[in-house]
Amino acid sequence: MNSKEIINKTITFVKQTLADAEGGHDWFHTERVYKNALLISKNEPADIFVVALGALLHDIADSKFHNGDETIGPKIARQFLADLNIKPNVVEHVVNIIENISFKGGNEAQKFSSLELDVVQDADRLDAIGAIGIARTFNYGGFKNRPLYNPDIKPNLGMSKEAYKASTAPTINHFYEKLLLLKDKMNTETGKQIAKERHQFMETFLNQFYREWGNS
Ligand code: ADP
Ligand code: NI
Repeated sequence: MNSKEIINKTITFVKQTLADAEGGHDWFHTERVYKNALLISKNEPADIFVVALGALLHDIADSKFHNGDETIGPKIARQFLADLNIKPNVVEHVVNIIENISFKGGNEAQKFSSLELDVVQDADRLDAIGAIGIARTFNYGGFKNRPLYNPDIKPNLGMSKEAYKASTAPTINHFYEKLLLLKDKMNTETGKQIAKERHQFMETFLNQFYREWGNS
């Protein structure tokens, strides 16, 4: 099988696997991340094949939707790629991307680094901010039955991975705990550029939200 056929097979597999996924972590999220990853790759000397597979498989089994199990996504991806007879070093690299892409509160040390991880991570982070980021965040909050906002519950920075995952805080807090921090965590120049505008849009959204909340 050539690269194009492998990518097409992967797309079909991901679409099937994510058929019933939560709206913020579904095939369309993966598709947006895939497209942004390819866009960013135009300005980086990255291995496009690894970037494409990493982007397509990065949320194949998010631990949030699998009782916190962080091993299931990498396991499914590894099996899928091995069955296609892909070179072991490519499989390893893609699995490393999936294992290390997540934010997890932002206070965990990342255990693996590569340009290809940087690219896919930026693409995933871009989809977490801006108008789509806002939509995804409230969708997830609704999925978890979280309040939109509660002025008495303050955001908690400095959370451990465990506390971040277990948080039941209002959805607005997630802006301060993650979304507004992402602009300064972008890896690539292209990612930084796109993040700037999306970040500003979130600031505008929050200002309007508080004005309406305060009836002004
Ligand atoms: P990461 O694995 O990098 O932490 P996630 O998959 O947890 O990323 O988050 C992806 C998106 O899901 C977030 O950008 C946000 O839109 C939504 N999300 C995740 N956790 C929360 C939360 N606690 N409150 C609201 N939205 C959330
Ligand atoms: Ni993602």
